Amino acid sequence: MNRPVRVLVTGAAGQVGVDLVDTLEGRVPPGGRDGRPLDGSAVGAGEFEVLGLTHHDLDVSHRGDVERALAASRPDVVVHLAAYTKVDAAQRDVSRCFAVNADGVGHVVDAASAVGAHVIAVSTDYVFDGRKGAAYREDDLTNPQSVYGASKRAGEERCPPEVTLVRASWIMGVRGTSVVHTMARRAREGQEVRFVTDQRGTITASADLAAGLVALVRARPGGVWHVANDGDATWFDVAQHVGRVLGRGDDFARPILTSDLEPPPLAARPERSDLDTTTWRQHFAPLGPWRESVERLVTWGSDSR
Ligand SMILES: NC(=O)c1ccc[n+]([C@@H]2O[C@H](COP(=O)([O-])OP(=O)(O)OC[C@H]3O[C@@H](n4cnc5c(N)ncnc54)[C@H](OP(=O)(O)O)[C@@H]3O)[C@@H](O)[C@H]2O)c1
Repeated sequence: MNRPVRVLVTGAAGQVGVDLVDTLEGRVPPGGRDGRPLDGSAVGAGEFEVLGLTHHDLDVSHRGDVERALAASRPDVVVHLAAYTKVDAAQRDVSRCFAVNADGVGHVVDAASAVGAHVIAVSTDYVFDGRKGAAYREDDLTNPQSVYGASKRAGEERCPPEVTLVRASWIMGVRGTSVVHTMARRAREGQEVRFVTDQRGTITASADLAAGLVALVRARPGGVWHVANDGDATWFDVAQHVGRVLGRGDDFARPILTSDLEPPPLAARPERSDLDTTTWRQHFAPLGPWRESVERLVTWGSDSR
C-alpha cells in the first residue's frame, strides 16, 4: 500500500482550516454537502496524514519557525490558509497585515521548496478593484483597494507559477464568524436587517471550498484558480435568502447603499468582484449553487436544537 500523502495545513483553526482538516480525514464538515472531494473520488482510508497547525502552533510571520516546522514534518503538500483576515482593522495595522499575508506566504513558499513540498495558497477577490463590470477571470489585472487586498496581492507575488494559487471570495462556514451568522441570528430574534445592494460577489462556502482543496491536493496543478459557489449575489440578496430560509417574510431585509453605512467602513470594498469559475468547472465538479450552501449553513444543527 502507498504511504499516506502528508498534508500540512496552516491556519488550521480558521473557518476553512477546520473544514479542510475534516474533509482530509474523511468526515463531512458541518454544513457540508457530502464531504466528497470535487474530483469525484471519496477520501480513502489512510489516504492523507494531516498535520493541522493553528496560529498558536506556528506564526507564519516568523521565517525560522516556518522553516523548522516544515523541515521537521516534511510534508508532501502545504495548504497555506493562515492569514490576517480583519479587513477593516488592517487599514490601521498595515505592517502586521503585510507581515502575515505577504511575508508569511514567502516564508511558506521558500520552506516548502526546501523540502520539495507543493504549496496551495489561498487568496481573495479583494485583489481586484471591482470596476471591470463583469466576473473576474484568473488573468485579469489586479488593483487592490484596501490594505488587506494589497497584502494578499503581495502574497500572490511571492508565489512562483508552480504554486497552486486559489482565489476565493466571501468565505463563510458553520464554524466561522461571517456576516451570515449575524443575518441568521437577527432573523431568529425577529429583528430586521439592512444590507447593501452595491457590493456584488460570489459566495464560497468553506465546506465546499474544502472539497475543492482536497481535489487540488491530489492534482497539484499549479497556477491560479478561481474557486467559488455558482452564481453571484449582493449582500442584500444573501440577507433576503437567509430570511426566507428561516421563515421570515420579505420585510426581513431592507436594501441600502454602501454610502448609507454608519459609521462608514474603514476599508473600501470592490463594487463587483464576483469570480469567474469557468476554468475550475472545466477540470473539477462545481461547488454548487450558493443558495443551497447558504441554506445548509444557516440550518445546520437546527433539527437537534
Ligand atoms: N474570509 C473570507 O471571506 C475570505 C475571502 C477570500 C479569501 N480568504 C482567504 O482564505 C484563507 C482562509 O480564510 P478563513 O476565512 O479561514 O480565515 P480565518 O477564519 O480568519 O482563519 C485564518 C486563520 O489564520 C490564523 N492566523 C492569523 N495570523 C496568523 C499568523 N501570523 N500565523 C499563523 N496563523 C495565523 C488565524 O488565527 P487567529 O484567529 O488566532 O489569529 C485564523 O485561525 C485566508 O488566506 C484568507 O485570506 C478569506
